[in-house]
Amino acid sequence: MEDWNAVILGRMEDVPEPFRIPSPIEQHGYLCDGSIREWAGPRQDVVSPICEAAGDTLRQKRIGGYPLLSEREALEALDAACRAYDHGRGVWPTMPVEERIKCAEAFAYRMKEKRDEVVKLLMWEIGKALPDAEKEFDRTVDYIGDTIDALKNLDRQSSRFVIEQGVIGQIRRAPLGVVLCVGPYNYPLNETFTTLIPALIMGNAVIFKPPKLGILLHQPLLEPFRDSFPPGVINTVYGKGPIVLGPLMRSGKVDVLAFIGSSQVADILRKQHPKPHRLRCVLGLEAKNPGILLKDAEIDHAVRECILGALSFNGQRCTALKILFVHEDIVDAFLTKFCDAVDGLKAGMPWDRGVQVTALPEDDKTGYLDELIRDARDKGARVVNKGGGRVTGNYMSPAVVYPVTKGMRLYTEEQFGPVVPIATFRDIQEPMQYVIESDYGQQVSLFGTDPGLLAGLIDPLVNQVCRVNINSQCQRFPDTFPFTGRKDSAEGTLSVSDALRVFTIRTLVAAKETDTNRRIIRSIVTERHSRFLSTDFIL
Ligand code: G3H
Repeated sequence: MEDWNAVILGRMEDVPEPFRIPSPIEQHGYLCDGSIREWAGPRQDVVSPICEAAGDTLRQKRIGGYPLLSEREALEALDAACRAYDHGRGVWPTMPVEERIKCAEAFAYRMKEKRDEVVKLLMWEIGKALPDAEKEFDRTVDYIGDTIDALKNLDRQSSRFVIEQGVIGQIRRAPLGVVLCVGPYNYPLNETFTTLIPALIMGNAVIFKPPKLGILLHQPLLEPFRDSFPPGVINTVYGKGPIVLGPLMRSGKVDVLAFIGSSQVADILRKQHPKPHRLRCVLGLEAKNPGILLKDAEIDHAVRECILGALSFNGQRCTALKILFVHEDIVDAFLTKFCDAVDGLKAGMPWDRGVQVTALPEDDKTGYLDELIRDARDKGARVVNKGGGRVTGNYMSPAVVYPVTKGMRLYTEEQFGPVVPIATFRDIQEPMQYVIESDYGQQVSLFGTDPGLLAGLIDPLVNQVCRVNINSQCQRFPDTFPFTGRKDSAEGTLSVSDALRVFTIRTLVAAKETDTNRRIIRSIVTERHSRFLSTDFIL
């Protein structure tokens, strides 16, 4: 990445027309209790990671602003959600599943109309390249469709009675109450919706706070939310976490915390709940997924997968490969090819064709990554690719750091950026020990061709992490696969079908098999007196 001009924004008129932001997007509205309320109080500027020239320096382009709500508005959102849920008696939690599905379908239909706006903002707010931004949007719409299908299946299975040892029962999954959803900045739409949609569709009432970055892109969806669901079923809060989330958690009225972000923040939020034992948590947290390249790995293939795994979206994926352990016998050959591939990645604006390296949205992220590189350098490693680690504005050219050893920050710290630490090993027990000692336990990638050797690693590794990838990068995809982690990496499992379970509890109606009970149940069912006790079947 030699062309630094490609990473500095020129005039807005030079941006391709569909991707321009002609004037800043000033968001004043937030969704509460079925209406979009106007906020006249303090607001927060939104700056893009993309920089423009300002005299002799570079500055991040301002693209808009959003409301900084106070505790009062957060508690109003909570009251609205509690009213909508009404201890499980509200319109939404008691609505027939088929009708809740219609609401979700109506939302998905309206959401699709907002694709261009949301995709554009994904590029400007977090610097996601156009194909990845489109993929994030489409994947989210697909997730809603798949969730609806999974719910239909679940409901069909529950539309029958079971008779066991003289007891008749009907078992269904019921909502838990008020769910607080907070997503991460790297997948601000997709990861937020992978909790929000299942929580909603199962009959919970939701309060949703957009992540610290990637906020304006949710604005086009406020009206579809408002128009598709009953009042109070979905509410948004905007602002500083301690001001808007603290009061929600301290109220004790949040039943489920769905949080994807850092364990530090998750711990703070959980501890604020006055009765932590009541709080269900669905957490997606840190990871430091290793790639292990055995001496018989197919190097060209491993290079391709490791580039994808370590550097897609500049390494800002929780599932990214964040350290590579390469067998000593192949490390030289691997490094030569890997560095060439890294140096061939194209830097530029998110909308540039073929771009792979884009600006980093987090505040002073390049400074933090530079610290990690310096630490490694001081302890004997170096950046081995040409021009790796160079910074312009919020861009850092991807850096391959070698040899990374125990004691360097890059060995254990989750860099979440375009720095690829490479360690070597001779004895496979070295990377195995790394996995055992790691604070994290999300995934691992194994590269090799000997089935026996791979099998010998798979068996111990599946008890250390939650997905072992063979000759493939680590990833969450496909969303029907269970996504979770051990140790500090996650709590609860998400997938299209698992998510329907984590936001619900099994509840049942049971009766001893007597003539009277049989008559009562038959009457309730045939005369359709109950929505729960019912054999209605979704077709
Ligand atoms: O940041 C974590 C995302 O869930 C990653 O999803 O691995 O399918 O890209 P992905």
